[in-house]
Amino acid sequence: MAEPAAKRRVAVLISGRGSNLAALIAASAGGASSQLVLVISDRPDAAGLAHAQAAGIATAVIDGQAYPSRSTFEEALQTALEGAAVELICLAGFMRILSAAFVARWQDRLLNIHPSLLPALRGLDTHERALAAGVRFTGCTVHMVRAAVDHGPIIVQAVVPVRADDDQGSLAARVLAAEHRCYPLALELVASGRAVVRGERVMIDAPGPPADWLMINPPPG
Ligand code: GAR
Repeated sequence: MAEPAAKRRVAVLISGRGSNLAALIAASAGGASSQLVLVISDRPDAAGLAHAQAAGIATAVIDGQAYPSRSTFEEALQTALEGAAVELICLAGFMRILSAAFVARWQDRLLNIHPSLLPALRGLDTHERALAAGVRFTGCTVHMVRAAVDHGPIIVQAVVPVRADDDQGSLAARVLAAEHRCYPLALELVASGRAVVRGERVMIDAPGPPADWLMINPPPG
């Protein structure tokens, strides 16, 4: 019998709560094409570290405040990633801007999740700005990271309605639930080799659409 394909080794970078990390951990059990081998926080107090520890995943704190420059911080990051033989990185609420050099080194192996339908609402305070603009729909995006913040080839998006009585909290909660479905899907598509960047767009081979995933593009195959 043929050996099962080796799982891609993934690091998740966080700065805070880590609910997307928890969703990735939950999805990585069983038949996933990836395994989470390292969780790195740039903040020692990130609550999300506990999710990794509970799941028996190695953690590292690379405290952004403790380094004199971005380049020395990123050298420490790179050393930790190489030490764990990481192949793919997922930014999950990692609130630090990475340099163009770091991004280039991890080209098409570095994913991010953003709480809007990119290219709309790049940057911070997305839900506040969605409400102020009166948009009827917002959502979330998982994309390959490029040097410009919140730019890069889109892997998965989900659309979320904005209701008349929403406030930031209710809208954020609805978007976050969609994030928790999108990120595991995007990682699986990339780790399995089904999602490939061509000409700054992500192409995905033949997904089949179960009805309840219709607002997530692409639906899981
Ligand atoms: C998520 O909503 C994620 O999309 C957002 O931070 C939150 C992290 O939550 N990321 C950004 O705004 C990046 N620009 P989590 O720590 O519970 O996963």
